[in-house]
Amino acid sequence: MKKSLAVFVSGFGSNLQVFIDQKQVWDKLLVISSKADAQAVSRAKEAELPVEVLEKSIDWEKLHQTLLENKIDLVFLAGFMRIVPGEFISKWEGKMFNLHPSMLPKYKGLKAIEQAFEAQDDVGVSIHHVVPEVDSGEIVLQEVAVTGAEAMSLTLENVKEMTHNKEHQLVSQWIEKYGN
Ligand code: GRF
Repeated sequence: MKKSLAVFVSGFGSNLQVFIDQKQVWDKLLVISSKADAQAVSRAKEAELPVEVLEKSIDWEKLHQTLLENKIDLVFLAGFMRIVPGEFISKWEGKMFNLHPSMLPKYKGLKAIEQAFEAQDDVGVSIHHVVPEVDSGEIVLQEVAVTGAEAMSLTLENVKEMTHNKEHQLVSQWIEKYGN
């Protein structure tokens, strides 16, 4: 039986697009956005997917109920820019994943690509289980996008683009691993 997935977004939605392009994998693909005017929302509407836009002050219990009503099996945070409270995370323990543009546990938090680039370190992508501590939790997929040595002859913009491309590849791998 196919599973149902909720993808949480806030911004551009290029990773959401990977899910959209393979939407036949899921019984239901629900998009949850913290921003009404996010490009990700336009992508979801274009693909005729159900979208829920959250209020500024998120009612996490209501959101949990929405996920239950939609029989959601898995949650994927793809550029979701709000901190998810521990109580909500514990309800979805083992079923919630996050995408982060660094070789975790290195460079947690914001500006991860910039941090690694400035340190001339490897820039990469991780997908991990969500636990209450930000950008922690068991890593399920991880790959280097650009090595520190390679990055020395590239601009930050090049490195960002290569990292985002690697994110899209890893999201596809995640779909293969968890979508069945
Ligand atoms: C990605 O870099 C992701 O790793 C980070 O936020 C960005 C979202 O990009 N958490 P997009 O909205 O999927 O294009």
